[in-house]
Parts: sequence; structure tokens; C-alpha cells
Amino acid sequence: MEINIKEQLDLIRADAEKELAAIASSEELEAFRVKVLGKKGELTKVLSQMGKLSAEMRPIIGQAANEVRAFIEEKIKTAKEQIDKLELEKKLSAEKLDVTLPGKAKRMGKKHPSSIVLDEVKDAFISMGFTVASGPEVEYDYYNFEALNIPKYHPARDTQDTFYFSDDILLRTQTSSVQIRTMEKVKPPIRIISPGRVYRIDEVDSTHSPIFHQIEGLVVDKGITMSHLKGSLDLIAKKLFGEDIKTRIRPDYFPFTEPSAEISISCFKCGGEGCKFCKGEGWIEIGGAGMVNPKVLELLNIDTEEYSGFAFGMGLERLVMRRYNIDDIRMLFENDVRFLESL
Ligand code: PHE
Repeated sequence: MEINIKEQLDLIRADAEKELAAIASSEELEAFRVKVLGKKGELTKVLSQMGKLSAEMRPIIGQAANEVRAFIEEKIKTAKEQIDKLELEKKLSAEKLDVTLPGKAKRMGKKHPSSIVLDEVKDAFISMGFTVASGPEVEYDYYNFEALNIPKYHPARDTQDTFYFSDDILLRTQTSSVQIRTMEKVKPPIRIISPGRVYRIDEVDSTHSPIFHQIEGLVVDKGITMSHLKGSLDLIAKKLFGEDIKTRIRPDYFPFTEPSAEISISCFKCGGEGCKFCKGEGWIEIGGAGMVNPKVLELLNIDTEEYSGFAFGMGLERLVMRRYNIDDIRMLFENDVRFLESL
């Protein structure tokens, strides 16, 4: 019996050495450790027979077993160190970075032409002492129409049909609503511009879009006249388009200005001679303007004996198209990068 156990121990030791030599991964190594040294392992199995040994033999075989265990543990430890090293090397070489490879080019975005022109318009007005105001796109009928002297059933509403959330809440059709919101809050002198998105039922074509942007302007102060309006428009047009640009104002009608004017600039395609784009007129309308109707000022408790004002509303897209020679407004909304990159 003693001899037998001793033989088994020697066998375990010899086998372990042989098997270890063939192990190449940490998983295999762990499986091997459990198989030989684990609770149900080969060594434990052999030691469970110790009870059958004579009292003198027990410590001798016990010691021999401990030696075998220590020997195998030591072997496993060295094997583990080697395997860890190899696995790390493998991992490092798999994750190796070739710094000589060409880089991946990053696609850089850039400002949309509408934002570029809007920023220039803002800068120009800020340099004249204006501040930038804003108002909501979902607006009350009161600010969009009523307070602008456009009562219900007024024909001026026909050209500005829009989406109604309820009888008195709608998508604003003009930034003129911000005129009212401003005069409610601020006492004159007032000098603001208010750029923003507006909505109308317009059919889409090369010059119309149901969503577009306006830049509203409002000045209320003592002694403001139509020539201040004309001067400001001239200045802004020259800043945006250069000294050669011509501006024109002609009589028009808006319920909230009196007198009212239509603002045009000379056509960018033909320079004023008349072409397909300006429908033979040589001029492109960019917005409306006028002297603030005293009725509006009175509604907001501004003394019309003391104060007068001018207002204008320009279509941002028209300015952008003029500036970049774009003859179809849809290009500004489609976000086709090929088009945007070509500018
Ligand atoms: N809100 C007018 C429009 O959308 C333009 C305008 C603004 C006219 C300010 C006069 C004064 O057509």
C-alpha cells in the first residue's frame, strides 16, 4: 500500500511535468491546476487514501505528497509567468499602432450661408447702436395681427395664412410681432432688430418657401423720419453688397406702418437691366418698411406727439441669394453638402 501511494505520487509528478510542458494558455493552465491540485484533483484523491497507511508511514508519505504539491505549484507559477508574458506580447503586437499610416481626414462643417449673412447683418446694425431682440415662433394672434392693426377678417390676413393651434395661437407669419413685444417692455428710445423664422402657406418655388426668415427692425425716438429709414437701409445694403448696390423704396401698404414702403435692391443677376430672375424688373424686393402707424404707438401708450418711429422687415433668404448668386431658394433649405461646400 505504502509503495503504491508513493508510486502514484511519483506518477502524478512525472505526468504533471510532461503535461505542463505542452500548456500554452492561461485557461489551459488553470484547468490543469484544478485537475491536479483542486479539491477533487488527482493529488487530493491520492491523499484521501492516507487513512489506510500505518502510523509510521503516514508522515513520510505526507511529506512526499507535500513535496509533490510544492513542486507542481512551483512549476505552475513559472509556467504562469511565462504564459502571461507571451500573452501580453501577443496582445501588444495585435494592438500595435502603425503611426506611419495615413490619417483619416476629418470632415469639417462650416457655417450655413444664411448664418453668415445674418451675422453680418447683425454686426452692421449693432455697430449703429441696435440691440438684437427675439420673440416666439408660436405666437398669439394678438401680437402677430391684432396689435399690428390687422383685425380679424382684415384682407391683409389672406396673404399670411398659417398654421393655427387654436383660434388665437398660431405659427407667426412675420417678425413684426416682436415690434409689439418690444414696445410693451421698453420705453423709447428703441433701436432693435429681430431676426427669426416665420411661416406662411406659400407654395414652394424658386423664390418662395413656406418657412423662411425675416429680419425685423424697429426704431422709436424723437424726430424719427422716413429719411432715417432710407439711410439705414442704404447703409446696410452697401455693407452687405458693396458700394455699387442700389436700394429703392416705393409706396406699399401695411396696416401697421403709415406711410408704407416696399424695399428693393438692384438685381444680382442682371445688375438692373432686367432678366428672368427679377422678372424683367431689374429690382428684387427684399422686404417692407414704413413709419410706425401712430395707432400702433398709441396702443402701446407711446406719446405720438413726442415720438415717431420706423420699422422694416427683410427676408433673410433674399439677401443670402443676392449675396451668393443663388437663384433657387430651395438650395438654402435642402442642406445638400455638395451645394454648401461649393459656396
Ligand atoms: N412684416 C411685413 C411682411 O412680412 C414687413 C414689414 C415689416 C413691413 C415692418 C413694414 C414694417 O410683409
